[in-house]
Amino acid sequence: MSVLVTGGAGYIGSHMTLELVDRGDSVVVLDNLVTGVRAQVSEKATFVEGDISDKDLVRDILKTHKVDAVIHFAGSIVVPESVEDPLKYYSNNTAKSRDLIESCVASGVKQFIFSSTAAVYGVTDEASIAEDGAKDPASPYGRSKLMTEWMLEDTAHAHDFRYVALRYFNVAGADPKGRSGQSTPRATHLIKRACQVALGRAPYLGIFGTDFPTPDGTGVRDYIHVSDLIGAHALALAHLRGGGASSLFNCGYGHGFSVREVAKAVERVAGAPLAVKEMPRRAGDPPAIVSNPAKLKAALGWKPQHDSLDEIVASALAWERRLNSA
Ligand code: UD1
Repeated sequence: MSVLVTGGAGYIGSHMTLELVDRGDSVVVLDNLVTGVRAQVSEKATFVEGDISDKDLVRDILKTHKVDAVIHFAGSIVVPESVEDPLKYYSNNTAKSRDLIESCVASGVKQFIFSSTAAVYGVTDEASIAEDGAKDPASPYGRSKLMTEWMLEDTAHAHDFRYVALRYFNVAGADPKGRSGQSTPRATHLIKRACQVALGRAPYLGIFGTDFPTPDGTGVRDYIHVSDLIGAHALALAHLRGGGASSLFNCGYGHGFSVREVAKAVERVAGAPLAVKEMPRRAGDPPAIVSNPAKLKAALGWKPQHDSLDEIVASALAWERRLNSA
C-alpha cells in the first residue's frame, strides 16, 4: 500500500512527502519538474519524473506501487499569472486533474486528497469565511480549482471514490528541521519575497495596493505554517483510510495579517529595517481572505502547533538563508 504524491518536488508536496516517509509510509512522487526541485524530494520516496496527464504512466504507477490514496498537489498557483494566462490554469489545474481523477477511477484508487484554495471564495464582508460561504472566485486560478472540486464531487457520487478537498489559505514557512522550504527562485509569495529582501537578494518589497478597504489599506491574508497544513493532510488521509465520507475543509488559522504587518514581522525577526515600496494593486487580488477553521477542528480534530506569524517568518528566513548559502 502506498501513497502517490503529485507535485511532490514542490514546496508543499515535498513537506507532505517528508511527513509520510518519517512515519514509515511508502511514497511515490510524480512531478514534471516544471517548478519542482528534484533535490527537495526525500530519498526515502520513489521519484518519477512525468506528468499527471500521462494516463499510461499514472496507471502504471498506481498498479506497480499498489497505491491506495493520491494526494494531489501538482498545479499552477500564481493568481496574477492566471489572469494573464487563464488557459494555462484551466489546463494544469482543471483538465490535467480530470485526467488524474479518471486514472484513479480506472485503476480502482478510491481515496483522493486535493489541494484546493481559499481563492474559490468571493469577496466577502464577513470577518472570516466558512466552507459554505459564497463561491465567486476573483481569478481564473480560483475558478480552475473550484471546477476540480466539482469534478471530485460528481465523481464521488458516480463511483466508489471518496475525496477530501482542502482549501488552503496562505501557506508559508518551512520545515522546522530545515529539510525543505519554498525554493522557487522567482516565487511570488509575500513572506518569501520579504525574506529575500531582508537578506539583500532584492532591493525592496513591493506593497501591491494601499487602497483596499482594510484597516491599513493593504491586503489581508490568513498565513498558515506549512507544517500545520501538512498536519491537516495527515488527518484527512486517516479520515479517508478509516472509511470517512467525502468532505471539504478550510485550512487557515482564523486571523489575518496585512501586508504591512507581515513586513513589520520580517523586520522584527530579521532585526533590521525592510525597504518597502508602495505599488498599484495586482490583478485578481481580493482585499481580505480569512478562514473560519471550525469545521477542520471539529471534524478531524486538527490542532495547530505553529500559529505564530513570527515563527512562520523565522522558519522562512532560516530556509532562505540556507538557500543563499547553498
Ligand atoms: C496565495 C496562494 C494561492 C492561495 C491563496 C489563498 C501563492 C503563490 N498563492 O495567493 O495559491 O490560493 O494564497 O489566499 O502562494 N503581496 C505584496 N507584495 C509581494 C507579494 C504579495 O504586497 O511582493 C501581497 C498580495 O497583493 C496579497 C498578499 O501579499 O495581498 C499575499 O500575496 P501572495 O503571497 O502572492 O499570495 P496570494 O495571492 O494571496
